[in-house]
Amino acid sequence: MANKWWKDSVVYQIYPRSFMDSNGDGIGDIPGIISKLDYLKLLGVDVIWLCPVYESPNDDNGYDISNYQSIMKEFGTIEDWEELLAQIHNRDMKLIMDLVVNHSSDEHAWFVESRKSKDNPYRDYYIWRPGADGSEPNDWGSFFSGSAWQFDEGTNEYFLHLFSKKQPDLNWENPKLRQEIYKMMTWWLDKGIDGFRMDVINLISKVPQLPSVGNGEGYHFGGEHFMNGPRVHEYLKEMNREVLSKYDIMTVGETIGVTPEDAALYVGEDRDELNMVFHFELMEVDSGQHGKWDVKPWDLREMKQIIAKWQIGLEGKGWNSLYLNNHDQPRMLSRFGDDTVYRMESAKMLATLLHTLQGTPYIYQGEELGMTNVKFNSISEYKDIETLNMYEEHLAAGEDIGTIMNAIYVKGRDNGRTPMQWDGSEHAGFTTGTPWIAVNPNYQSINAEQAVKDPHSIYHYYRKLIELRYAHNVTGYVAFRLLMEDSTNLFAYVRTLGDEKLLVVLNFFKEPAQFQLPDDITFHKHELLISNYEAKADTDIRSITLRPYEALVYKLQC
Ligand code: NOJ
Repeated sequence: MANKWWKDSVVYQIYPRSFMDSNGDGIGDIPGIISKLDYLKLLGVDVIWLCPVYESPNDDNGYDISNYQSIMKEFGTIEDWEELLAQIHNRDMKLIMDLVVNHSSDEHAWFVESRKSKDNPYRDYYIWRPGADGSEPNDWGSFFSGSAWQFDEGTNEYFLHLFSKKQPDLNWENPKLRQEIYKMMTWWLDKGIDGFRMDVINLISKVPQLPSVGNGEGYHFGGEHFMNGPRVHEYLKEMNREVLSKYDIMTVGETIGVTPEDAALYVGEDRDELNMVFHFELMEVDSGQHGKWDVKPWDLREMKQIIAKWQIGLEGKGWNSLYLNNHDQPRMLSRFGDDTVYRMESAKMLATLLHTLQGTPYIYQGEELGMTNVKFNSISEYKDIETLNMYEEHLAAGEDIGTIMNAIYVKGRDNGRTPMQWDGSEHAGFTTGTPWIAVNPNYQSINAEQAVKDPHSIYHYYRKLIELRYAHNVTGYVAFRLLMEDSTNLFAYVRTLGDEKLLVVLNFFKEPAQFQLPDDITFHKHELLISNYEAKADTDIRSITLRPYEALVYKLQC
């Protein structure tokens, strides 16, 4: 496959509202980010992905954009943003911006016009339909609870919103709308940005008849009618031809419900669409049949199968993106590791997984500190619209508060949105004011100041992993092979480059576990590249007893 800078990069995701507040209003901002760039440079990341910083009424924290070409006032000015870009580039890092074009805010000028009348020139920028027999045009449910349709009295029609009712879906069938979006993208690219993360980009094409799911009462997930819809590849190829192909940039699409086969159509190197996608298969391993809030225990064998399927499925075709958490997910350490006794060991073990697979790893702010989920006592402390809507809906359906709160503790998006823990001072050094969402009470022991000072911290382990990635060409290894696939506690694999192999062995639990190298893997020399424990002398690597959450990465000379 082709050599590209984004394949060799490590991306760091910033959720600006929670990263660093410079002016004491309790909300993170752009000057705050600038003040922390040296911290990111020291960590060794190459690319910063900035979640939306555009003007927005913040119904969904910036994913509801009212002006695509301006900066949200709480975050700063366009001059601040320009300074940020310059400072990032000065440090030899890159910046990718979030592109949210499946929907806009209902306060965007296009929508303000669109809802005025049926013959308004902007009417067709959104998806309007008359009601069916006095109710919604179809039975689709919104991702944020309730119907995906909102009635608008002005013109007596409904508009579609797959997310909140303040996030009307844009109508990509309209070529004028598409041109407006391409123009806007070009405007940002001409300012010198290095790419885009594209929000729910595989939802932009809906089946034109907008058919009902039609399996009973209530609202249903209509994904089959809008995930990977009929014209999505046509739109992305057009976007690529008219915009993306003119720049040396990276693109990563957030794609719900894609398999490796679907993904290859988005990221295939001969497809001229995107560079990478984020898939959700791993994020669903602890969801029961009723979806995200129906919490079930995850199974390591299932996780391994999913990762192997993606490693093998895209090999030689397209590039993987590697993540275990982001601003929409609980903290990976609380979800897949141990956030109490073995916090350090398990955070490093999970990091080892992400940084030794083929693909581009994404670090979500605070992951490098081993930040954990949070448990607020009262629903009033939660801010996320998805969580709050779910709470109301489940309460109305008669579910008990304990079950609802437990689901929020395990899965809620605010777990990943509590402020960055910079130091042990009040509000973790995030703000001198009152933070928009409370700081995780564990900030006195888990914070950046402490982590940077301690050479054995999770932060420094990430640094070493990143260094290793370059020093040993970790991206170059191919032919992923899962070892001991039936093991319920070990995740082990090899990847090969010429006569060298990278052997990775991870213990996912606190009980010691026995690793056995298959007989057909022979080698005459081995080197331990990294581990989250002090190395044991004279390890026979054909048969190793791993300590709790131990991670071992060897290079084998075959
Ligand atoms: C995915 C984003 O990551 C999430 O935060 C947002 O709520 C939805 N898309 C809608 O934009």
